[in-house]
Amino acid sequence: MIKVDLSGAESFWGEAGPDYEKCAAAHRTLTERSGPGAEFTGWLELPERIASGELDRILSAAARIRARGDVLIVVGIGGSYLGARAAYDLLGRKGDGVELIFAGTGLSAVAVRDAIERLGDRDFCINVVSKSGTTLEPAVGFRIFKELLIRKYGPAGAAERIFATTDARRGALKSAADAAGWECFVVPDDVGGRYSVLSAVGLLPLAAAGQDVKAMLAAAGAAFKALDERSSANPAWQYAAARQALYRSGKTIEILGCYEPRFRMMAEWWKQLYGESEGKNGLGIFPASVEFNADLHSMGQYIQDGPRHLMETVVSFGESGAAYAIPADEADGDGLNYLAGHDLNEISAIARAAVKEAHIQGGVPNLAVEVSAMDEAGFAELVCFFEFACALSGYMQGVNPFDQPGVEAYKKLMFKGLEALK
Ligand code: PA5
Repeated sequence: MIKVDLSGAESFWGEAGPDYEKCAAAHRTLTERSGPGAEFTGWLELPERIASGELDRILSAAARIRARGDVLIVVGIGGSYLGARAAYDLLGRKGDGVELIFAGTGLSAVAVRDAIERLGDRDFCINVVSKSGTTLEPAVGFRIFKELLIRKYGPAGAAERIFATTDARRGALKSAADAAGWECFVVPDDVGGRYSVLSAVGLLPLAAAGQDVKAMLAAAGAAFKALDERSSANPAWQYAAARQALYRSGKTIEILGCYEPRFRMMAEWWKQLYGESEGKNGLGIFPASVEFNADLHSMGQYIQDGPRHLMETVVSFGESGAAYAIPADEADGDGLNYLAGHDLNEISAIARAAVKEAHIQGGVPNLAVEVSAMDEAGFAELVCFFEFACALSGYMQGVNPFDQPGVEAYKKLMFKGLEALK
């Protein structure tokens, strides 16, 4: 289970501190489905719902995808993409799993060319993930890769290689899938994109990549039960209440850091979750991210010494399964032979403690989040923890944590601009 350590933040929030009464009220609002956006809280039941529903079909489709080729092109954007990308980058391709190539996240011709080059002449399938089917970036990406698929396998062959994850009943993609006979999976009505990774949205590509999605769902089910604890011992309460206390004391930017480069896309997923959930009505902590140690040499100066509006949340994994002893060097030009024989994990732990101390001394409160292991269960626990805490934090802030009206503004102007091409 996730552990949160607030000791690096306690000296920053003044006398009031974390407001656990408000957190308890937010918890009731969430679980009694009495707050704004309550119709989008189905993610709380996803582990049980999927395990007793679509899971067998997801596993069977994943096996067919693996049997039909070496690559799955996953087309989607935002909440229809980031969760799967985060887990794929964090845990990788496993066993006989296929390589995932992500597409439809932009309109860059260079990115399309790169993806096509990476695909080469290998056999492939497509998983197009879009609730609406009309989001411009994935719709364009899907057109491109669907055309390549049809050219390679013909219309009937292509139809057996396209898997659509979309609305259960309506929408452009659902209609196209029904007309062409593509197998469909569901983006649930009561789950917003940023909370959907534990539905078919994330699970189908991850199962195709060989990840143990059953273990993910089992860990997620247990995690949501544990997160229902109504006390300040609940790590989601601790994180939500602490960041709101720090926000009140002027810390308006949160940087999420991790010492594992594989975590980079997990931080992108977290940024959407918190940014879309809280950034509204002129309110919200701005979610940013850093990759340590690399960014200590680029962002370190600002973190240590810039405006004091930062808080820092650092995620660490108890067990990575990797180790490497530093070799001795005869010349010892860098003077580091005293580290020879010591494991990288040991050296990294000392570096992490030093960074934490320096940042606290520099005026940056530190929230530490510890995950048991970098595996499927650890990923699922972290997802549930961040989702639950995000909902609590949003309700504490007084906003609807499940809508995203601001996202429409650019779309309206973009489609108006595109009318010139009609
Ligand atoms: O979280 C969200 O709701 C968004 O990020 C959407 O997932 C994203 O805009 C893609 O939308 P769609 O799935 O309709 O293509």
